[in-house]
Formats: sequence, structure tokens, C-alpha cells
Amino acid sequence: MEIRKQCALVALQDVKAYLAEEGGQIAVFDATNTTRERRELLLSFAKEHAYKVFFVESLCDDPDVIAANIMVINVGRSFLVNKVQDYIQSKIVYYLMNIHVHSHSIYLCRHGESEHNVEGRIGGDGMLSVQGKKFAGALKGFVEQHGLTDLKVWTSQLGRTIQTAEELGVPYEQWKILNEIDAGVCEEMTYEMIEETFPAEFALRDQDKYHYRYPGGESYQDLVQRLEPVIMELERQGNVLVICHQAVMRCLLAYFLDKSADDLPYLKCPLHTVLKLTPVAYGRISHPRLPCVSLRHIFLSHSSLSG
Ligand code: F6P
Repeated sequence: MEIRKQCALVALQDVKAYLAEEGGQIAVFDATNTTRERRELLLSFAKEHAYKVFFVESLCDDPDVIAANIMVINVGRSFLVNKVQDYIQSKIVYYLMNIHVHSHSIYLCRHGESEHNVEGRIGGDGMLSVQGKKFAGALKGFVEQHGLTDLKVWTSQLGRTIQTAEELGVPYEQWKILNEIDAGVCEEMTYEMIEETFPAEFALRDQDKYHYRYPGGESYQDLVQRLEPVIMELERQGNVLVICHQAVMRCLLAYFLDKSADDLPYLKCPLHTVLKLTPVAYGRISHPRLPCVSLRHIFLSHSSLSG
């Protein structure tokens, strides 16, 4: 008991260092904290440093579930929420209510090559090229070969993703928020045209691609915010194939692979390639006596389809 208490105190010092010195905003102090004494300790620690405390408690009375050691009452069967004090705390509750631990895979790909891609023009609402149509056919073969019968298919509301999904011959849902990044005044231009017409804008984007917002359009940062409902729905669902666009795919991939804002706009999302993401609950056990160190990790595999 004494050793455990010491461990907890050392971990609290980590919390303090993280919040006070490393610019952290939210620290998760993962412990049992089952005694009043321990909770008092946490509350006085927080009071001393003017931190807000928010307890997230997991109650398990199903022996099978206890064995699996999960986070919410019997894997999300019910939730008890008290005294949510601010926006961030409500977002934490929202997130925990939406995640699940059942096995599922998320398949991400871009639409087949479009006429605009052939011409090097960004944005717009062009239709598929000949190669793009071949990819759509190959994607149908991929879905059939992998026996993905319970698969949900989502597209944006732009013609090139819809045309790709149509080829699959299965129902699909269109999401406006999956539309490609809005390039504002640069829509339908090639990168060369942008550099020539708006040289200052072109240079600014190169300096900070994540935060740069096209005049009259969006930044990657805007896109990340726009995509939040899709991400949350992906967390809730079983197997889903998302047929989207380059910038959108980068944002989704960055979320699941935990990539930084600096790396996100440069993630490789080639045309005619399907990425398969398989979240695994408690995938990593970093110490044999301390399981459940990470909530999950993601297996990533990719298939290039000829198109
Ligand atoms: O070129 C295809 C495209 O999807 C454009 O519509 C979009 O503006 C671009 O990719 C996003 O990639 P980047 O951020 O590298 O310009």
C-alpha cells in the first residue's frame, strides 16, 4: 500500500510538471482513487495549484467485462454523469460515450482519379477520368474479395466520390462535411497558376500549411474542426469505407494515427490506394503487471488498386 501511494504521489508530480512546465492543458491521472482519503489528496493537490478536477469512473460488475478491464459501465451500457463544469469536460464525456471496444475496421480512400487531377487543378467538382473509373471497378473487386458484406460506405457530396461509390453497387451515404478542403479563390487552379497569380499566398501556405487559410476558403485546421462529427461517427460504427479527398483523408488518418498538426498536411494519401485502419482496444501492454496502459492502438495496412 505504501509503495502504491508513493507511486501515486510521483505520478502527481508528473501531472504538475506537465501542466506547469510543459504547456499541458489536460492531464489524465489514471488510478483507482477508491478511498475518500485518496480523493481528498487529489482535491487538495488541485486546490493548491488551482487546477480543476474531473473524476471519470468506470464501474464494472459483469465478470467477463471486469476481466477485460474496460472504461465505462459494462462497455457503454449506461453512463452516469455529474457536475460537468465546462466545455472540455463535456467533450470528454461526449468522446467516452461514443467510443467502443468492438473490433472494426475503417477503410479510407480517395475518389478515383478525376479530370481535374489529370489537369493538375485543385478543388472543383470534376468527374472521373478513364483511370478513375477503372479504380472504381477495382474498388468493387476489393470489397467483394475481402467479403466486406456489413460494410457502410460514405462519400462526400462531390461528384467524383459519388461516381466512385456508384460503381460498388451498394447503398452509400453522402456527407457534405466530407467535401474536399475549400481552396477559396484558388479553386480549380493548378499550383503553378496559384503561384503566378497569388505569389504571396502561395509562399504563406508553404510556411505554415496547417494554419494557412485560402482567401475565401479553408485551412487544414478548419477542416479538422469540420470533420469532428464524421470522426465521432467513425468511432461509433462498425466497418466503414470512406471515399473522400486528399486533404480530408489526411485529417482522418492523422486523427487515428495520432499525427501532429505539422505532419498532417504532408501525410501520403495517394490516389487509387485503400488504407485499412483497425483500432485495437488495449492493444499494447507495456508492463506485464500494469495492463491497459493505452486505450488502443491502430493497425494500418494499405492496398494499391490498379486504376
Ligand atoms: O489535388 C487534389 C486535392 O484534393 C485538391 O482538391 C486539394 O486542394 C488538394 O488535393 C489538397 O492537397 P494539398 O493540401 O497538398 O494542396
